[in-house]
Amino acid sequence: MFFREADPQNKLSNISSHPQKNANTMTDQTNYQNLPENSAKTNISEAYIVNLCELQQIQLEMEQLKHDLKASESRFRNTIAKNADGIAIVNKQGLVCFANPSAEALFNCKAEELLGQAFFGNLVVEGSACDIEMDADIIPQVGETEAAGMRVVQTEVEAIRKHKANAVVEMRVVETEWEGEIAYLATLRDITDRKRAEEMLWLYDRAMAATSTGVAISDATNPEHPIIYCNPAFESMTGYRREEIIGKNCRFLQGSDTDSKALEIIRQALKTDSECQVILKNYRKDGTVFWNALSISPVRDKTGKLTHFIGVQRDITDRKKDEEALQNSEAQSREQSAQLAAALDELKNTHSQLVQSEKMSSLGMLIAGVAHEINNPVTFIHGNLAYLKDYAKDLLHLLALYQQHYPNPIPEIQQETKNNELDFLAEDLPKILSSMSIGVERICQIVQSLRNFSRHDDSQMKPMNLHEGIDSTLLILNHRLKGNGEMPPIEIVKQYGNLPSVECFAGPINQVFMNILSNAIDALDDPNSQLTFEEMSEKLSQIKICTEVVGNLVEIKISDNGPGITEEVKQRIFDTFFTTKPIGKGTGMGLSISYQIIVERHKGKLYCTSELGKGTEFTIKMPIVH
Ligand SMILES: Cc1cc2nc3c(=O)[nH]c(=O)nc-3n(C[C@H](O)[C@H](O)[C@H](O)COP(=O)(O)O)c2cc1C
Repeated sequence: MFFREADPQNKLSNISSHPQKNANTMTDQTNYQNLPENSAKTNISEAYIVNLCELQQIQLEMEQLKHDLKASESRFRNTIAKNADGIAIVNKQGLVCFANPSAEALFNCKAEELLGQAFFGNLVVEGSACDIEMDADIIPQVGETEAAGMRVVQTEVEAIRKHKANAVVEMRVVETEWEGEIAYLATLRDITDRKRAEEMLWLYDRAMAATSTGVAISDATNPEHPIIYCNPAFESMTGYRREEIIGKNCRFLQGSDTDSKALEIIRQALKTDSECQVILKNYRKDGTVFWNALSISPVRDKTGKLTHFIGVQRDITDRKKDEEALQNSEAQSREQSAQLAAALDELKNTHSQLVQSEKMSSLGMLIAGVAHEINNPVTFIHGNLAYLKDYAKDLLHLLALYQQHYPNPIPEIQQETKNNELDFLAEDLPKILSSMSIGVERICQIVQSLRNFSRHDDSQMKPMNLHEGIDSTLLILNHRLKGNGEMPPIEIVKQYGNLPSVECFAGPINQVFMNILSNAIDALDDPNSQLTFEEMSEKLSQIKICTEVVGNLVEIKISDNGPGITEEVKQRIFDTFFTTKPIGKGTGMGLSISYQIIVERHKGKLYCTSELGKGTEFTIKMPIVH
């Protein structure tokens, strides 16, 4: 038999062990012949009865054994039939002599079709060609792996199936006995799916080895999330060997400066079994930094239970460096263009100021030149006028004496006296001379003012009488202040305090007074241009100039009672080229230059307050001494 079972075997062996007993029984039987006849008869009949009983007993036992045997064989057949593995018994010639239903299913054939077929080579082949030779040695790789003495071979073969693709089969062959002869029991397990899965696993493994993206898998059932797998890319990215990584939590890649916000995102994701993507600063084994674009995803089994987390790491250090470089260069470009814009603005300013101050300086020089030229003859006239007055007085006195002592001159003199209206002349001449004297005085004042205003020695600060500067400016602007047939005059109210000499650049300070006062006059004139002279005269235009000393500063307030300016205009009033005047009338530079002169050159303050409908006031504050 190709199988052995404990009970029947024992029972059979019980039977086979009887021969000894049977032999003894036979021996006993033989011995009966040697007994005396009577006793022999008695003994024979007794022995016969005994033997008969024994035989009956044996028969009964035999029946029982047969029954047990049948039951055991049926159990065995049942087991074989129900076995999930295909089982085939192959005789010494290699022909199938038994096949169970799983073998039928495996080969997709009925057992009758399989019986008698050459098993090796016909039904199973090793790879593409099977050259298992039955008689040469069916089991070349015989191993003594099982019970001592039992020859077992285990190999992978291909099962050739009817009308179906071949299956990969794990075949295990053991020697057995079939109908009294040596035979082979082949157990066939279909491992096609397992093989495919293994192949896929192998492919996945190759893919993992080929990718440059790091992959690390952690055990999600362990709160410490130890790494249970990492691919070669993860090793080369971090510089650690697999043995150093497995079993550890990946936090060993972090440093004290690893972004805590990113770590919090990971903690949350791990807590809520969800995905996350972060960019982390990590450190390689050699201490160098790399930027890790990490994405973590949960893995669940078929029941939905969380089993693992997969971390996918990409080294984005180069990208980060490029980004940083780009950001730096963008910031640099921005800074440079801001600097350029500022430089351009300053250049424009400086240019305009240069042009303006060049103009002012030319104007100053012109004024100074004219003042100088006028000064000489005027001084000459002024100086001689006194003598002229005296001489005229003397002559008129002499004439009066002549008239008194010679009341009747010759007719020719009488006629000439009449023609020249001598009485009127004598009365008017002193008046003319006085008037001339006043005029010359005035010219002298103007010349002095012009010379004051045009002081252009700006190489260093000098003490200046600010009131003189203001007055000179007012004098120059007098033609605009005194009014004409179209515009009524503008009243100037001076509230001068007791100012000491102030250290400053006189020319530029006069320029400031000129700019602010001209602006005030414009502010008063512009709205008036829409009104009739009478309407204008109803409201007296006024410019008020107040000066005082406040601490170590002088404060000069120049206000007008014009229409005032809006908040928006006020915000921009000192901006270069900002003007509210019509094109061609204002350059938008006067106040910006004034601001620069007061704030930058004199470390002072210049600001403006205004109330719509009430007027505007400019305040200058600057140190008395620098
Ligand atoms: C699968 C997986 C891969 C991870 N890979 C990294 C990694 O490459 N670099 C890193 O700094 N942190 C990585 N982490 C995050 C840390 O292991 C850890 O979860 C994080 O530091 C927050 O937890 P802690 O506060 O306990 O440190 C990974 C986490 C998991 C679950």
